Formats: sequence, structure tokens, C-alpha cells
Amino acid sequence: MAKLVVFYSRADENYFGGRYCNIDIGNTEKVAHMIGKATGAKLFKIEQKAPYSPNYKLCIDQAMADKQANARPELVELPENLDGYDEIYLGYPNYWDDMPMAVYTFLEAFDWTGKTIYPFCTHEGSGLGGTERNIARTCKGADVQAGLALRGSDVDYSKDVVLRWLNQ
Ligand SMILES: Cc1cc2nc3c(=O)[nH]c(=O)nc-3n(C[C@H](O)[C@H](O)[C@H](O)COP(=O)(O)O)c2cc1C
Repeated sequence: MAKLVVFYSRADENYFGGRYCNIDIGNTEKVAHMIGKATGAKLFKIEQKAPYSPNYKLCIDQAMADKQANARPELVELPENLDGYDEIYLGYPNYWDDMPMAVYTFLEAFDWTGKTIYPFCTHEGSGLGGTERNIARTCKGADVQAGLALRGSDVDYSKDVVLRWLNQ
């Protein structure tokens, strides 16, 4: 059966290495493309109907408000089902040791019985946080494998690490 790469990622203003910078493609999206290329998997991007601000500080406030409200932001679209896929690579940035709330909107829309999930996460120091556990809790019946954590500011140099993880 086919593999699918599902990911959430935000471009625009980010903060790393002690400074603000603008990026055209989000860190997690870059990793998603590496995985897609290496595995031949199709890609699906989780996009909110009301995206967070391109301004980093405003984005932090919006994402924190959603986390505190345990919100499920509406998505632009969802696949009709995941029937054709048994292996899902699930990518997201670490937001306070967790996934962005929109990833929960996605995960809660499907039956995960019998599917294998490979989490991958970009971060600026917190690694995977509690995300593997949260995915397992949310995706009942899925086999959640050990995830890959990459520092977002290093993803351009992380292809070998990604390929090694894929081959494990
Ligand atoms: C709202 C928000 C919260 C974040 N919280 C954390 C955090 O708690 N720990 C951490 O290591 N990085 C945190 N980061 C940094 C991101 O995880 C990191 O920059 C990631 O690579 C962004 O991925 P993206 O470009 O694919 O969106 C946060 C970034 C944002 C925008």
C-alpha cells in the first residue's frame, strides 16, 4: 500500500539563532519534501482556514491562545479518507512540547486502526517533547514508531540524518 507524508509547517517570520528571519518554506515542509523524494510518498499539507500571522510574535500569541483553549482550528481541506495508505509520515513543528492544534484537527478526522505512523518534528531545542505520546493517545489503533527530531535551523544540512531514519 502507498505511503503518505502529512505535515504542518509555517513559513514567514521565524526566530532562531538569536534573530528574526523570513523564510519562504517552513522547516518541517523542507523535511517533508526530503521524505517525499526519498520514498515516493505523496504529500498533504495541513493548512488552517485562518492561518496564524506572518508576524512571529503575533503567531506565538495566536498559537498559545489555541493551545490554552484546546482549540481545533478549521482546515482548508481534508483528504476524503486515508484508506489507500498504511504508512503515514507525520510532520509538525514543536509548539510548547506539543503539536500545533490544527494537527489534532487532522488526526481526529480519521480512523487510525492498523496504520503505522512515523512522526517527524522540527524544533529549536525541545525535540519531540510529548508528541509521540500525544499522537498515540489521539490515533487509537495506530502503531506509532519512534520519531525523528531535527533542529529547524539545521534542516538544510539534515538530509543524511533523514535518510538514515527512513532506512531504519
Ligand atoms: C508558536 C510557536 C511555538 C514554538 N514553541 C517551541 C517550543 O516550545 N520548543 C521549541 O523547541 N521550539 C518551539 N518553536 C520553534 C519551532 O518549533 C521551530 O522553529 C520549527 O522548526 C518551526 O517549524 P516550521 O518552520 O515548519 O513551522 C515554536 C515556534 C512557534 C512559531
